[in-house]
Amino acid sequence: MTTLRPELSIDRLIAELQMLGAISEADPPVVTRVVFGEADLRARAFVKRLCVDAGLSVSEDPIGNTFARWQGADPDLAPIGTGSHIDAIPNAGLYDGCVGVLGGLEAIRTLRRLGFTPRRSIELVIFTSEEPTRFGIGCLGSRMLASALSPGQARLLRDKQGRGLDELRTATGFTGALESVAHPPGRFEQFVELHIEQGPELERKGVDIGLVTHIAAPASLRIVVEGEGGHAGATLMPGRKDALAAAAELVLALERAAKSTGAIDTVATVGICDVFPGAVNSIPSRVQLEADVRDIDGPRRDSVIRTIQSVCYEVQERRGVTVASEIVNADPPATCDVAILTALEESANAAGKTHQKMVSRAYHDSLFVARIAPVAMLFISCRGGVSHRPDEYASPESIGAGVHVLARTLAQLAS
Ligand code: GLV
Ligand code: MN
Ligand code: MN
Repeated sequence: MTTLRPELSIDRLIAELQMLGAISEADPPVVTRVVFGEADLRARAFVKRLCVDAGLSVSEDPIGNTFARWQGADPDLAPIGTGSHIDAIPNAGLYDGCVGVLGGLEAIRTLRRLGFTPRRSIELVIFTSEEPTRFGIGCLGSRMLASALSPGQARLLRDKQGRGLDELRTATGFTGALESVAHPPGRFEQFVELHIEQGPELERKGVDIGLVTHIAAPASLRIVVEGEGGHAGATLMPGRKDALAAAAELVLALERAAKSTGAIDTVATVGICDVFPGAVNSIPSRVQLEADVRDIDGPRRDSVIRTIQSVCYEVQERRGVTVASEIVNADPPATCDVAILTALEESANAAGKTHQKMVSRAYHDSLFVARIAPVAMLFISCRGGVSHRPDEYASPESIGAGVHVLARTLAQLAS
């Protein structure tokens, strides 16, 4: 294992990351891969081919979660899992999720090249739709795997064009009963996910590896404001029921509510604002907002949600519009497993990498896998802490450090 570093094929991994990034609905360097879209399907095919070439046996479940298994000496034991996602939000970059998938694959290939034989199988997982882009809910595949979203609830999901989850998944080849996606505790012995930090801490401190102890609690809300449309010139200001003006109050109220907790860990964002009918000379009659609220403290996050719900009521009464708010998801935070964190720490020390404990403010598939298995995550730095943007960048050195530590950890956990 001490010779592991030269065995890592980081140049090939970087080339594969770039090839995967080129599979996009947008022109380079922009990466957009929405679940069950054409680019998502091509990206899946690309990664599955690499897994097969690496000698792994690949299977898929009815939601499209993909499992690439390296059979261990004792195949009856629950496997050690690793992996992440390859879907990408609109206008994204190369590394979010993909480093955990292709880096996990490279860790497995490295161990195979070294002649290591795992006692437990090692399974690389590519989770479906970690990003909420299409169906408005994040971590779709891992959420269903961990029974945090039932098949019945999943069947109600629709995209903006009104196409249902079942219609879309079956049209793209993922057939079979959604009931078989869920697994009880024990599906994985342990699970470890490599990811870019998506924040600035590691780079600022010059630390190689972040050992994630907690994953923050995400929530999202859909707020629909119905007002009264009309001619923008001929309808005078008194008595107007402008849905966008009302929605604007809600956006600012949410920002105030997040700041007012006094905790730096509370964050809130309105990332979607759909205005109907969307004509410059027409008063908006309907606005749909989608808001994202997070904190490492679940009850504090929930207090922000309660505040915005009461502002919705107040704006409705004062402006004579109707405001309906719906909590799409409000997930609890996850705590990472001490034994896996210890293995990661020992691996980082053995690899000569500096490390620090930290919290993940972004959510990840591990948040849900944590419901059925012990999990931990390791972070590597990304330039300027930038993510969910085309200029997202992680250096070959930091990717190499992450894969090195992951490979050692997988070897230790699977032995
Ligand atoms: C995941 O992409 C997140 O938004 O945290
Ligand atoms: Mn993301
Ligand atoms: Mn991600």
